[in-house]
Amino acid sequence: MTAAYSLRRRLLFWLLISTAILGVLALADTYREAVQTSNIVSDRVLAGSALAIAERVVVAEDGSLQVDIPYVALEMLTSAAQDRVFYRVDGPPGNFITGYQSLPVLAETQGDIAAFADDSFRGEPIRVATLQRSASTGIRSVPFTVTVAETTIARRQLARAILLRSALRLSVMIAGAAVIVWISVTVALRPLYKLRDAIGERSPDDLHPIEQSVPSEVQPLVDTVNGFMVRLQSALDALRNFTGNASHQLRTPLAIIRTQLALSVRAASLSEAQNAAFKGDQAVAHAERILAQLLLMAKIDAAAAKEALAAAEIDLTAIAHDITAELIPAAAAAGIDLGFEGDGPEAIRAEPLLIGEMLRNLVGNAIAYAGSGAVVTVRIRRSERTVCLEVEDDGPGIPSETLAVVLQRFSRGTESSSPGAGLGLPIVEEIAGLFNAVLTLEPGADGKGLNAKVAFAAAA
Ligand SMILES: Nc1ncnc2c1ncn2[C@@H]1O[C@H](COP(=O)(O)OP(=O)(O)OP(=O)(O)O)[C@@H](O)[C@H]1O
Ligand SMILES: [Mg+2]
Repeated sequence: MTAAYSLRRRLLFWLLISTAILGVLALADTYREAVQTSNIVSDRVLAGSALAIAERVVVAEDGSLQVDIPYVALEMLTSAAQDRVFYRVDGPPGNFITGYQSLPVLAETQGDIAAFADDSFRGEPIRVATLQRSASTGIRSVPFTVTVAETTIARRQLARAILLRSALRLSVMIAGAAVIVWISVTVALRPLYKLRDAIGERSPDDLHPIEQSVPSEVQPLVDTVNGFMVRLQSALDALRNFTGNASHQLRTPLAIIRTQLALSVRAASLSEAQNAAFKGDQAVAHAERILAQLLLMAKIDAAAAKEALAAAEIDLTAIAHDITAELIPAAAAAGIDLGFEGDGPEAIRAEPLLIGEMLRNLVGNAIAYAGSGAVVTVRIRRSERTVCLEVEDDGPGIPSETLAVVLQRFSRGTESSSPGAGLGLPIVEEIAGLFNAVLTLEPGADGKGLNAKVAFAAAA
């Protein structure tokens, strides 16, 4: 079983991770835009100041440039927070006129429009604007540049404030989404809790389909469970049927044993007592046989459930030969001529003990039902990819109307004088099934008797 995990926690985890990533991206974008916006606003003010200064530049009578700095225009800038404003005015190249001489001047100006750049002055970050103009005397015009700079404290503060506000807004949104997920998962899971309670309240043998209404995502799971319960129900029914039949089968011989014991107690003569003892012994043999078959059946069911039956390669010819030899005395006692046909070794994949049980059941049937004087042949036949184990007799065979039912557990032929539970052929069929072999019952040669065939796949 894999470790349990919480849907709610998983959903929250992914929601938080993804919104955090999106949030960081959005914040970065917001910050970039805030910086841009505050730059545009204060650049315009910087350009205005530069223009105001440029307008006060005049050409003196000696041809030199003179400036009358409009401090009011500069105050417009300084009013913003703790920022400081610097300026300088330069005449024709290399001719400093007034202001801060160490203030950087932007070389790249474009005609009438001011150029802007970020720089630093006296160790502080500044924004610089340089404007190019010329003053005219009427005779000649003298070019000059006005440079205005401002520290960036205010604009950085503004950008930071915008960033902080957006971050705050985003955090509130993420927290809100987390709460919504938490609540909605709780609500969405409610039908599942109801389903759990409904199943928990059932009695152990109530295997009716679950009819609780569940979300469509869970319906396939419920359908699967329902299908499983149907199979469980039929398995339980089969088990009940089997145990019922089994106890019924055993009750008959046990009742006979008790009757015969009671008879022997009351017997007037030795021969009467002997007769009762003999009948009682027969009933014990019958009960023994039924028990053996029941145990074998249980063993096969367990093996089928495990599916781990180690199917090693075995030589079917050798096994069939040995078991046939072992059964010859019993066959002879019943007046039956039991023979074996088979050439070389034939490899199949199967479990030898179960193959032995299979063959004993088939030969046992032939001995029991073919009648005295019959000829029974155990045969191994190879054809291309299959190896067939056949038990053929020339007795009365099974009438076609009975053929259909003899493979059901506990079903026996109409003539059932011999002790038996009706489990032999079902056992043969189930053992065959364990090794992917197929049992067929057909009339023997000349349409006489029965030929029981089990076809195995030949091992490579
Ligand atoms: N070789 C056969 N010839 C004629 N009838 C057969 C033969 N084999 C089986 N049958 C019929 O099929 C019935 C079912 O056989 P099956 O082996 O399943 O049970 P059983 O022999 O009656 O009991 P069990 O084998 O459990 O002791 C038998 O009762 C018998 O009527
Ligand atoms: Mg039998």
